[in-house]
Amino acid sequence: MILKRLKEETRVQHEEVEAAVDVMNQMFDLDDYKRLLERFWSFYAAYEPALPVAELKVAGFDYLERVKLPLIEADAKVLGLERNDDGLELPDLSSVAKAFGSLYVIEGSTLGGQVISRHLKQHLDISTENGGAFYAGYGQQTGPMWKAFGECLTQFAEGKDVDDEIVESAKATFASITNWVGRKANSAAVNS
Ligand code: HEM
Repeated sequence: MILKRLKEETRVQHEEVEAAVDVMNQMFDLDDYKRLLERFWSFYAAYEPALPVAELKVAGFDYLERVKLPLIEADAKVLGLERNDDGLELPDLSSVAKAFGSLYVIEGSTLGGQVISRHLKQHLDISTENGGAFYAGYGQQTGPMWKAFGECLTQFAEGKDVDDEIVESAKATFASITNWVGRKANSAAVNS
C-alpha cells in the first residue's frame, strides 16, 4: 500500500511545510500572500517542464490535464507579482517512479489548497478572480482528482520494486518546497 506508506512516512514533513507556508497565521497579510505565490510561481515554472509527462502518460497519468502554472500566471498578473528564481533547487525527476513520488506531494497539496482557499476568501477577500486561482485549484473536483491520482500511482507501483524510490522522492519534494517557500528562505532572498 504505497499511499499509506507515503502518508505515514511524510507526516512530519507535512507539518513542516504547513509551518513554512504559514498562511493560516492571523498575521498573514496580502504582502505575505504575494511573496508566497511568487515562490510557488518560481517553483512551478521550473518544475512542470522538468516532469517526464510523456512517460507518465504511458504509465496512465496525464499531468497535462492538471498543469498549475497557468493558474499562478493568472494570479501573478492580477496581483502584479515579480519572481526571482535564484537558488531554487528542484527534486530529481529523472524516473517515472521519482516523478510519481514527487507528484504525490504536488497533487496532495491541492487538498490543503482547498482549506487555504477558504481561508484566503474569509481573511483577505481573495478568490479565483482576484488572485486566488492557484489555491482554488480543481475546486469541487479536488476529491475525485486526488482519488484518480492515487489509483494511477497505486497501479504503477503494483508488482514493481519502486516503493522506496517513490517515498524518497516524496520526501525530497517536501524538503525542496519547504526550503524554497519557507519564510526564512523568503527573507534571505529579499536581503541578498
Ligand atoms: C497551511 C497549509 C496547509 C494545510 C492547512 C494543509 C492541510 C491539508 C489537509 C486538510 C489535507 C487532507 C488530509 C486528509 O484528508 O487526510 C492535506 C493533505 C495533504 N497535503 Fe496539505 N496542507 C497544507 C499545505 C500543504 C503543502 C504546501 C503541501 C505540499 C507542498 C501539502 C501536501 C499535502 C499532501 C501530500 C497531502 C495528502 C496526504 C495523504 O492523504 O496522503 N500540504 N493537507
